[in-house]
Parts: sequence; structure tokens; C-alpha cells
Amino acid sequence: MTRNRPKKSGLAGKTLVVGVTAGIAVYKTCEIVRLLVMEGAQVHVVMTEGATRFVTPLTFQALSQNPVRTDIFNLTEESQMGHIQLADQADLILVAPATADFLAKVAHGLASDLLSTMISATKAPVIFAPAMNVNMFENPITQENILKLKKLGYQMIGPANGSLACGWEGLGRMEEPQTLVDGVKKKLCAA
Ligand SMILES: Cc1cc2nc3c(=O)[nH]c(=O)nc-3n(C[C@H](O)[C@H](O)[C@H](O)COP(=O)(O)O)c2cc1C
Repeated sequence: MTRNRPKKSGLAGKTLVVGVTAGIAVYKTCEIVRLLVMEGAQVHVVMTEGATRFVTPLTFQALSQNPVRTDIFNLTEESQMGHIQLADQADLILVAPATADFLAKVAHGLASDLLSTMISATKAPVIFAPAMNVNMFENPITQENILKLKKLGYQMIGPANGSLACGWEGLGRMEEPQTLVDGVKKKLCAA
């Protein structure tokens, strides 16, 4: 028997923030965090309040081997402006899944929770993995927000086409965990 050892990959020694918002695809984010840790990255998970209704912080804490942050007004985590520290330390922020709500928030410069505040403060590249119902995705407001974010230099990976948890078929599935991990590697190697 041997202990799992992280691979020595392009992500070894990198500090990654995985932002988790309140979409049904959050179950796939558990696998993303596991894969990133296996690649040798230091992974810090930041969840919106809504995301904690889908998967508990405990799951992400166990998978990332780091404390999970959810609350900008947490006295302990914010004793030294933790949101700015993490925004500064991050080599990259991946938001997966990225809800329509969260994309709208960032597109409009809102910093009303820990994750959106961190994104507004970071100089690191940010990748969004949108995931939602096809009609939400095709809604012109969502499309406009995505276009605006892309123009501002934020990267989108996905969504993919296929059957959706809501029963619809179409664009809206979060990309597969390995595709997103490959996207993170590509971005960091290009940086
Ligand atoms: C069961 C369920 C599944 C949901 N799935 C999605 C989804 O896949 N994508 C999305 O944009 N919103 C989804 N929503 C709606 C979001 O949870 C809601 O807009 C929420 O306010 C987003 O919060 P956040 O962006 O702060 O995480 C879902 C809601 C529920 C109850």
C-alpha cells in the first residue's frame, strides 16, 4: 500500500482559488478539486452562500486539504484582510460552476460576497465555467454579460451541449472536470 502522491505537473506549487457558486453542476466541482490537488496545486475553495446548500464546505475541505471560505464577515478569516491576501496569492481563480447570477454580478462590478469581492480585487487570471438551464444561458442578458466579461479579459470554458439536469437539452452543461483542469494548465503555462 502507498499513499497518493501529487504528480509533478505544471500546477505543482501553484496557488489556485476554486470559486463555487450555486448550480447543480457543483457535484462535478468535487472532482475538479481532487484532480487539481493530484496535480500538486494548493487549492483554496471559496463558496457562495447558495453553493453551501448543494455541497457542504466539509466535502471541499476534505478534498482540498485547506479550510473552505464562505463568509466575508468572518472575524477569524478576515482578521488580516483574508479576502485580499487570497486574491493576491492566487495564481488563477476558476469559478465552477458559474451561475447566471454570479456572471451578472461580476459583469456589473458587484462585490457583494466573498467570492465576487475577491475577483474584483485580484490581478490573477479568472476562468469561468458557466453552467445553467439552456434558456437561462441563451437569455440575451446572460449573453450580454458573458460578452462583456470576455471583452474585459475573463476567460470562459464551456458550457457544453447536452442533456441538462433540469430536463432540457442544449447548451448549458458545465464542461467536464478534466477539460477544466486542462484549461487551467493551459492558461498558467501560457502566462
Ligand atoms: C436545484 C437548483 C438548481 C439550480 N441550478 C442552477 C444552475 O445550474 N445554474 C444557475 O445559473 N442557477 C441555478 N440555480 C439558481 C441559483 O441557485 C440562484 O440563481 C442563486 O441565487 C445563485 O446564487 P450564487 O450565484 O450566489 O451562487 C439553481 C437553483 C436550484 C434550487
